[in-house]
Amino acid sequence: MKRLLTGLQPSGEITLGNLIGSIKQMVEYQNKYDSFIFVANMHAITVNQDPTILKERARNLVALYLACGIDPEKNTIYLQSDNPYHANLSWVLECNTYFGEAGRMTQFKDKSQKHKNFSVGLFTYPMLMAADILLYDADYVPVGIDQKQHVELTRDIALRFNNKYGETFKIPEPIIPSNGAKITDLQDPTKKMSKSAENLKGTILVLDDINATRKKIMSAVTDSDNQVKYDPLNKPGISNLLTIYSVLTNMEIKDVENKFKDANYGELKKNVADVVCNTLESIQTKYKEILNSNLVDEVLDKGKVKTIELAKKKVEEVFNKVGLTR
Ligand code: TYM
Repeated sequence: MKRLLTGLQPSGEITLGNLIGSIKQMVEYQNKYDSFIFVANMHAITVNQDPTILKERARNLVALYLACGIDPEKNTIYLQSDNPYHANLSWVLECNTYFGEAGRMTQFKDKSQKHKNFSVGLFTYPMLMAADILLYDADYVPVGIDQKQHVELTRDIALRFNNKYGETFKIPEPIIPSNGAKITDLQDPTKKMSKSAENLKGTILVLDDINATRKKIMSAVTDSDNQVKYDPLNKPGISNLLTIYSVLTNMEIKDVENKFKDANYGELKKNVADVVCNTLESIQTKYKEILNSNLVDEVLDKGKVKTIELAKKKVEEVFNKVGLTR
């Protein structure tokens, strides 16, 4: 069985973009692949975090994975920081990455402009991500489009390492969802929907109040020609709403477009709000039940034991090849 691996940062609440771009895919893939899914809490500290909140968010994220339908019997679920080998391998990979190629990462360019005193960790972040992936011989890495460049860098580093030291790493492939790869901000539909947006009116959080969610969708920015058509370039707001509807109902975009071709924007928004609110309500109920049980700890303990065993083998192999053993 091919192995699939992905992670999410617990750096804030989970948005509808994360749900569609990442978690929903994992639920579909769990029957087809040996799936590894983890909380990237070490990536989160590349920017400032409150320790108490960070801990709480990591736990909440696992509860949310489970509430969204990620089955702990079918997936290996773990906390990145529970396994010291991620940081171990990351260092070796950093030493096999050129400064220039890391400097080309667009996420680093964006984020380093937003933070006045940004950390070195923000720069070396992609090599930690490469370690996350290469430690477990992942075949596929499902991510949103914003992470594709990091997976490509991972491939380059792995190929370079294999050429220099002999076959060690599997070369992973990114999987980008063809639909919903980029859910955009409801207030500025040319921008990605993000938990760190200044104006949260454009961002839907999975744990948001249901009425507030409905209001956000009803006040989504659209355009003035009152024609429901999928055209991301010229009609980004309407196209975003069609995408959200399509992904959450498992309908093709062209069928959604057809369904609403005679509808006005208000009707379209009401329908999108209905599916989003129904989806979120069901997730929120399960989430509360899980947080009130011991399930999160049980799942993470199991994941920790399994991933440490696998990662230890890989890091020993790498250390041996690089000459870091006695
Ligand atoms: P993160 O936490 O920023 O986002 C988690 C996943 O959600 C996708 N995503 C989106 N997809 C569609 N529309 C959006 N608006 C949107 N926003 C986010 C992201 O592409 C991502 O797939 N570096 C990663 C975490 C990570 C990781 C890894 C992922 C660490 N190591 C190894 C895969 C493999 C990150 O910060 O994702």
